Amino acid sequence: MIKYWSYKEEYKKNKNKILNKINKTLSKGNVFFGNQMELFEKNFKKKYKAKFGIAVGSGTDALLISLLALELKKNDEVIVPANTAIPTISAIINAGGRPKLVDVGEDYLISISQIKKAINKNTKVIIPVHLYGQACEMKEILKIAKKNKIKIIEDCAQAQGAKYKKKFVGTFGVSGCFSFYPTKILGTYGDGGFVLTNDFNFFEKIKRIRFYGIETNNKKKKYFNEYYSYENGLNSRLDEIQSSILNLKLKHVNNFLTKRRRLASLYLKELKNLGLKMPKENINCFHVYNTFTVYHKKRNLIINYLKKNNIQTRIIYPYPIHKMKGYEKIDRIRSLSNTEKFSKGIFCLPLYPELKLNEVMKICKFIKNCL
Ligand SMILES: Cc1ncc(COP(=O)(O)O)c(C=O)c1O
Repeated sequence: MIKYWSYKEEYKKNKNKILNKINKTLSKGNVFFGNQMELFEKNFKKKYKAKFGIAVGSGTDALLISLLALELKKNDEVIVPANTAIPTISAIINAGGRPKLVDVGEDYLISISQIKKAINKNTKVIIPVHLYGQACEMKEILKIAKKNKIKIIEDCAQAQGAKYKKKFVGTFGVSGCFSFYPTKILGTYGDGGFVLTNDFNFFEKIKRIRFYGIETNNKKKKYFNEYYSYENGLNSRLDEIQSSILNLKLKHVNNFLTKRRRLASLYLKELKNLGLKMPKENINCFHVYNTFTVYHKKRNLIINYLKKNNIQTRIIYPYPIHKMKGYEKIDRIRSLSNTEKFSKGIFCLPLYPELKLNEVMKICKFIKNCL
C-alpha cells in the first residue's frame, strides 16, 4: 500500500532521538511554558525572519488569536477565499467577524480581481491563504490593503518555508499563522501552531490572549507572571513535549523541502501531457508542495483505479466552504465558479519527505495506465 501520508517511517528512523529528547524534557519538570517552547519560539521566528513570534496550540488557534487581537466588531468583514480549510473560516466567525468569500484563480489561490470586487466600507481584514504550499500574489494584496487601510493576516498553515519574491511567507501582513498538524511541512505528533509578527504591540496582545490575558513575561507589568488577567483570552499552549519534538525537526525542515520538491518535480515530469491539470509554480514563488494537487474531470475514475491498486489519494477540498451546511448562509461575491469547478475535479497524490522516488514512479505508471 502506498499511503497518502504517513509519519511511521520518519518515526522509525528517529525513534531513539525523539524518545530521548522527550525523556530529557519530562525529567526537567516543566510541562508548559518551559525552555523547550522558548527555544522553539526563538528559532522559529529567527528562521523565518520575523521580529516576534508565539507558539500556540494549533494553526486554528493561531488564526483565531490573531483575529481576536484585531478586536473585530459585529459587521466587520474579512475577505477570504472559498477554496480553503474550514478553520480559516471558523476562526473569523469565532473572533466575531463576518467572512466574505471570494473566488480563486487558476493557481487555486485568492484572486486579486475578486478581492477588489469584495471590498466595501466594512472590510477590515484580508486573509490570503497560501494554499497547497504556494504563496499568494502578495505585492498586489499589499497594495490593495494599504490603499484601503485593511489589515492582512496570512494563513501559512500549508506553506512554511514558501517564498514570495525571495521573502518567506508569514511577515507580509500583521501576522502569519502556521500549523504543526502532523501532515504539514513541519509536523509534530499532535497539535501545534505559531504566530509570527513584526509588530511589538500586536505581539504583546496575542501573547496575553494565548493565556487568559495573563502577562507571562513582561517585567514592566505590575502583575507580571501572577494569575492576573489584563484582558479576555483563551488557553492555547504548545506543551513542552510537542515543543521538544519540533525543536528536533526544525533543524531538518530545509531537507524536508528539498525532498518534497524533488518528488514534485518527478511527478511534473512523468505526468506531462496526460490531460491532468498540474500544479504550476508561479514566477515570483518558491513552492513547498505541502500537497501535490492535480485536477481532472474524471477524478473518480482515477482515484478508484489508484485505490484498486493500493494507492491512497485525498481531496483537498471536496466541498467549497459555502456548499457545506455549516456555512451555507455565509456572505460571498456572486460567482465562485472556479472554486466550485475545482472542487469537483481536484485531488492530491501522495507526497511527504519519506516517500520514495520509485513509489512516485509506480503511482505515475498507474495514472498513465488509467488515462
Ligand atoms: C489552510 C489551513 N488553515 C488552517 C489550518 C488549521 O491548522 P490546525 O489543524 O493546526 O488547527 C489548516 C490545517 O488543517 C490548513 O490547512
